[in-house]
Amino acid sequence: MINFNVPPFAGTEFEYMKQAVESRKICGDGAFTKKCNKWFEDRFSAQKVLLTTSGTTALDMAMLLCDIKPGDEVILPSFTFSSTATSAVLAGAKLVFVDVRPDTMNIDETKIEAAITDKTRVIVAMHYAGVACEMDTIMDIAHRHGLMVVEDAAQGVMSTYKGKYLGTIGDFGCYSFHETKNYSMGEGGALVINNEAYNEKAEILREKGTNRSKFLRGQIDKYTWVDFGDSYLPSELNAAYLWGQLELADKINDNRLASWAKYRKAFEPLAESGRIELQTIPEGCKHNAHMFYIKLKDLEERTAFISHMKENGVLCVFHYVPLHSAPAGLKFGRFDGEDRYTTADSDRLVRLPMYYELSEEDSDKVISTALDFFNK
Ligand SMILES: Cc1ncc(COP(=O)(O)O)c(C=O)c1O
Repeated sequence: MINFNVPPFAGTEFEYMKQAVESRKICGDGAFTKKCNKWFEDRFSAQKVLLTTSGTTALDMAMLLCDIKPGDEVILPSFTFSSTATSAVLAGAKLVFVDVRPDTMNIDETKIEAAITDKTRVIVAMHYAGVACEMDTIMDIAHRHGLMVVEDAAQGVMSTYKGKYLGTIGDFGCYSFHETKNYSMGEGGALVINNEAYNEKAEILREKGTNRSKFLRGQIDKYTWVDFGDSYLPSELNAAYLWGQLELADKINDNRLASWAKYRKAFEPLAESGRIELQTIPEGCKHNAHMFYIKLKDLEERTAFISHMKENGVLCVFHYVPLHSAPAGLKFGRFDGEDRYTTADSDRLVRLPMYYELSEEDSDKVISTALDFFNK
């Protein structure tokens, strides 16, 4: 069976984890965590990056730092993972869902302004499949209305928008290093802080409400509890695992892009004949091949496609059940405007196997099995 995902493995992870164990420093913020933080800061020209225990907790931190008051509203797409929404709920916000654009399945930037009320505080830009949202428009709306922007770049590590790395454009960026992502540490993530004014508050929030980070830098001679906080530091073992992959970041990215390009070439004729739809990569966006998906005619055809692929040894998956129609979405939010594409297009979308080192033989099999379905 060809799996839908295989977690990336660089080969050096065991050695780096051994070094972490031998250093006798296995809790958070040791040498490997610092190396990972700095790698992102240097490579992405990011003001500050802090590894976290997951993409979800990076989002939690971002929302808590936005200082949401009870009753405040957060604008987000409904076509996203639950974490995008649950972080806003945790911070006390009401959710206002906006439709997506069918070409990228990202939030439709032209629908955001109509959803703004005097309670709106944050816009979440979730970069679906590692393809950027229309950030110039989103940042312009945010500036004009005095709103914060959180980029959910869980899927967008290494992707860019007009030359800027995703996660470094809004007020905060959030990455995921879950095993399904392009770079993994099992469970893990990172918060990108793009405004220096939030550095200290973020460190305190991440370190159980204490100013321990300042203490460790020798800036104060004892540390104490200073504010609300939680524990968002990953263990050094996880950071060491991630470090092995960051050293190969370009190799992993190039390898995924090559598989993506191969799929694209194979499926383009079907798209040209109107049989399927392929994703669009807008001008100025460089993606990271996080995902290769196709859109079929309708739910019925997608169900038949997934069954055909599985019967022939290829696992394909779909997502998401739109959040506004999920039980928690009904409880915590409302949909603003018309749901023109969110539900209809999520019903038609299917993801093909995509991972680092997907073999030629396996991608050939995925392609030929899929083409068989359409030729029948
Ligand atoms: C868009 C999006 N946001 C947030 C997350 C949450 O990341 P994590 O699983 O690392 O908590 C994920 C992935 O799982 C995701 O795809």
